[in-house]
Amino acid sequence: MRIDIIFILSLCIKIVYLQTCSNFDIGIDRSGPWYAHIRTIVSPDECCGLCNAEGTRCQSWVYVTIGAAITSGCYLKENIPIVNETSTCGPFCTSGFKEASLVLSGRCAFPGGIYELAVDRPGPRYVRLTSIRSHPACCAMCVLEGEKCRSWTFIRSGVADKESGCLLKNQVPPISTVPCVACTSGTK
Ligand SMILES: *[C@@H]1O[C@H](CO)[C@@H](O)[C@H](O)[C@H]1NC(C)=O
Repeated sequence: MRIDIIFILSLCIKIVYLQTCSNFDIGIDRSGPWYAHIRTIVSPDECCGLCNAEGTRCQSWVYVTIGAAITSGCYLKENIPIVNETSTCGPFCTSGFKEASLVLSGRCAFPGGIYELAVDRPGPRYVRLTSIRSHPACCAMCVLEGEKCRSWTFIRSGVADKESGCLLKNQVPPISTVPCVACTSGTK
């Protein structure tokens, strides 16, 4: 029994850590230095696949279609640059990163972090990341974003009337009086 639980847990951790090449952040640019630009790549899937194939050197990527102010193609990066929410690349950019590189420690430790379970903090968000599939990862992304990110709410998909994903906020909206079982929030 105990062995079964450990097995299932380790399986879950592996699933969380894989960059699956199916969940991207469409319309999100992560501006910053890149170590390779491959023009011949023509889809986000291919760009993500190449980043995976590169091993630990590649931490994130941005795929740019024709029409953007910068040359189209796949840009591979050695770190995870913060979101550039004012980038003009928006309509032309899709990006992704390796979730395994997010640091789950301190308030974001899992288990043992400081999470507001079933709590929504509705209010303006400066970015919505649909690629993030767990609340610890959303917490860690808020940390990675630095001072810009003051609080976050992660909302599981499949809830009516609510946009799912990791919502990063540059303020701390008050806790909603309406409970939300699909929500987890956190502040810094
Ligand atoms: C955000 O993207 C724009 C291009 O659209 C660029 O000019 C600007 O420098 C970027 N900001 C950062 C912080 O990289």
